[in-house]
Amino acid sequence: MLLRTLGTAAGGGVPQWNCACPGCAGARPHPGWRRQHDCLAVLGDAPGAWCLVNATPDITTQLQGQPELRPAAGQKRTPLVRVLLTDAELDHTLGLFQLREADRIEVLATPPVRAALTEGLHVDRVLAPYTDLVWRDLPPHGEPPVDLSGLQVSAVPLSSKRPRYAAHADEHPAWSSAVRLHDPDSGTTALYAPALAAWSDTIEAAVADADAVFLDGTFWDDDEPRRTGISRRTATGMGHLPIDGPDGTASHLNGIGARCLYTHLNNTNPLVDPSAPQHKELAALGLAVAGEGMEISL
Ligand code: MLT
Ligand code: MN
Ligand code: ZN
Repeated sequence: MLLRTLGTAAGGGVPQWNCACPGCAGARPHPGWRRQHDCLAVLGDAPGAWCLVNATPDITTQLQGQPELRPAAGQKRTPLVRVLLTDAELDHTLGLFQLREADRIEVLATPPVRAALTEGLHVDRVLAPYTDLVWRDLPPHGEPPVDLSGLQVSAVPLSSKRPRYAAHADEHPAWSSAVRLHDPDSGTTALYAPALAAWSDTIEAAVADADAVFLDGTFWDDDEPRRTGISRRTATGMGHLPIDGPDGTASHLNGIGARCLYTHLNNTNPLVDPSAPQHKELAALGLAVAGEGMEISL
């Protein structure tokens, strides 16, 4: 399978339109700092049949930026066949509305994510006059996976953190999941988890079983959202386990065999500065930040 990062930022991107924090101010004059909302393009064994994990507000730019994802000659001959969703957050789903010119959009999601999009964002009702929106269940890992262009795909449920617009919806373990992609031909597995609220046996086992892991890199440390003034809550309180610190994700990933790359970076994260010393700290642990347009072949 082929994986390509089309974006690696958290909600707002880098720079965020209304922000002049050091990360955003640094990114305005420096294209090398800029990051679009996190999205992974995936190609299985069917040539020209790509899927995206998450549909971001940057989706049309992200597709334009990839020659293989541009339409072929003729009308509406797009190589984008489906979208997989890790959660129902706005930064991962608003792009669905921008796909309305398609004849058909296939979307795979867990039941609470589908319900939030249907009942909270009214995606079905809004898109129905424009396109044929086809839902498919993203089964929990352990149940039979769906076969998508030669890849076995499932969801590893990570947390019951709901989007703010669905704050009153019911608890469910699969509000936020890692998308697990397994290639039975090569025997390789990739895990895409841009929102991880807590370290658990579930994520521990899923990471141990993977060859490549894209993990929540929203915040460097737990106090970052409070220190930078974006929230009164800690990173953990916002549903994003930080990278650094005694229970930070870096301490859990240290020494594991998989290639681990952080994604979904918030603009407050010092790692958005390519010269930040924190990059060396990660490198010493065998970890790194995912770059924009990075490709991994597994
Ligand atoms: C998150 O990652 O926590 C959400 O996307 C936050 C948001 O954008 O409101
Ligand atoms: Mn987000
Ligand atoms: Zn900022």
